[in-house]
Amino acid sequence: MRTKVGVIGAGHVGECTAMYLAERNIADIVLVDIIEDMPKGKGLDLSQAGPIRGYDCYVTGSNDFADLKGCSIVVHTAGLPRKPGMSREDLITKNADIIADCAGKVKEYAPDAMILMVANPLDIMTYHAYKVSGFPTNKVFGQAGVLDSTRFRMFVAQELGVSMNDVQALVLGGHGDTMVPLPRYTTVGGVPITELISADRIQAISDRTRTGGGEIVKLLKTGSAYYAPAAASVQMVDAVLSDRKRVLPLSAHLTGQYGINDLYIGVPAVLGADGVEKVIELELGKEELESLQKSAGIYKDMLKVLGY
Ligand code: LAC
Repeated sequence: MRTKVGVIGAGHVGECTAMYLAERNIADIVLVDIIEDMPKGKGLDLSQAGPIRGYDCYVTGSNDFADLKGCSIVVHTAGLPRKPGMSREDLITKNADIIADCAGKVKEYAPDAMILMVANPLDIMTYHAYKVSGFPTNKVFGQAGVLDSTRFRMFVAQELGVSMNDVQALVLGGHGDTMVPLPRYTTVGGVPITELISADRIQAISDRTRTGGGEIVKLLKTGSAYYAPAAASVQMVDAVLSDRKRVLPLSAHLTGQYGINDLYIGVPAVLGADGVEKVIELELGKEELESLQKSAGIYKDMLKVLGY
């Protein structure tokens, strides 16, 4: 049987996830949305691009969550996006019901699947999906660090006039304005950016990264970013399906690492066939650790809104 990936939500993030994933040609994709027929249209359209784009996997759209049956991993993109001026956290109560409903459906129809959370507020919704599904923590994780890091990488590359491919970056913490870009662990061809870019400019680039999602929301006027979020999600799905053991920043469940317990937050981890196979505990400086713990404190409080 062919590997099957589920994508819940056929909005911009969902359709782009399906498209980038189809282009990797590593799995059939089922795109589920509650809007009548719409995901079926998008699925057909994406499948029909296959002969030209060189893939032979199928994208099947559906209004029936039962079609998630047999999926190894389900990417959850459904949920409201931000409006200009809103924080990701403003979406908490609106998106919690959608996440609970969908996580329940994944549990019912794809009890062996992993859940990759993409909806905001990311770290909170990942925890919510973990609780509702009852899945083990290694099988429920969130995409955010890869997105935040790719934004940081792009800005660093632009600043230095070098290839984006040669920039490695690490952004930790919650996927919100308290995220923690780590310049010491951000390198260009192996050289830390602290040796290449002035402290002022690093600060400016870090700030732009932190508010990078909001910058796009403001420009789009309706909706939020989707190309980079989808690309980040597909890199993570590929890491799982191909058991790549990628070291990626992602929202993982912590059990004491970094002094944080029972919370999902962005940290580097090894991602492979068993999902989050290992959380990597970096040596952080005092300020870096404090920033991460501050970010964690905010999310702990926000979980209370959902009764946790
Ligand atoms: C962003 C939203 C999608 O960072 O969280 O673009």
